[in-house]
Amino acid sequence: MKDLLRLRTSLTEEIEALLNEQIKTEAYSSAVYLSMASWCNRNGFDNSAGYLEKQSYEEREHMMKLFRFVNDMGGRAISPEITNIPQEFDSFKGVFELALQQEIHVTSQFNRMADRCFKAKDFMTFQFIQWFLKEQIEEEYVARRILELFDVIGEEGTGRWQIDKHIPKVTYGEDPGE
Ligand code: FEO
Repeated sequence: MKDLLRLRTSLTEEIEALLNEQIKTEAYSSAVYLSMASWCNRNGFDNSAGYLEKQSYEEREHMMKLFRFVNDMGGRAISPEITNIPQEFDSFKGVFELALQQEIHVTSQFNRMADRCFKAKDFMTFQFIQWFLKEQIEEEYVARRILELFDVIGEEGTGRWQIDKHIPKVTYGEDPGE
């Protein structure tokens, strides 16, 4: 029966497993961004809390994009079990250090998937994940720029208040001339 089902999809077991792993990672990212939002809210960083809530929604959308793709391709998308979500963070800066780390991890997973798709000649999935690879340029850029605010503005005095005010304004814009 399993082999029969496999004949009805172009997804190999390996690529399907990688896609399901990514569904789980995006769900984890969504949950962590939400716990970061709660921490920022509790510690008086309201603008950052709003920004992180928005990030959490976006990660959920990423998860759903992948989830639908797996099912649309005739595979079996798995609703992930998410555990071990940190609820406490060492510092305001620590929240954003972790955010950048998580984004770099996501990029490496998509790079690995692109490599596996290429080797398996799965050009449909390869093409599908191009959107995510492009998105990662933006996600990493914004996370890096936010972290830089801590050095540029400094945390002393009203520094953290200023940083919190600037965080939602950090955006990624490609040069229109290019
Ligand atoms: Fe969906 Fe921020 O990676």
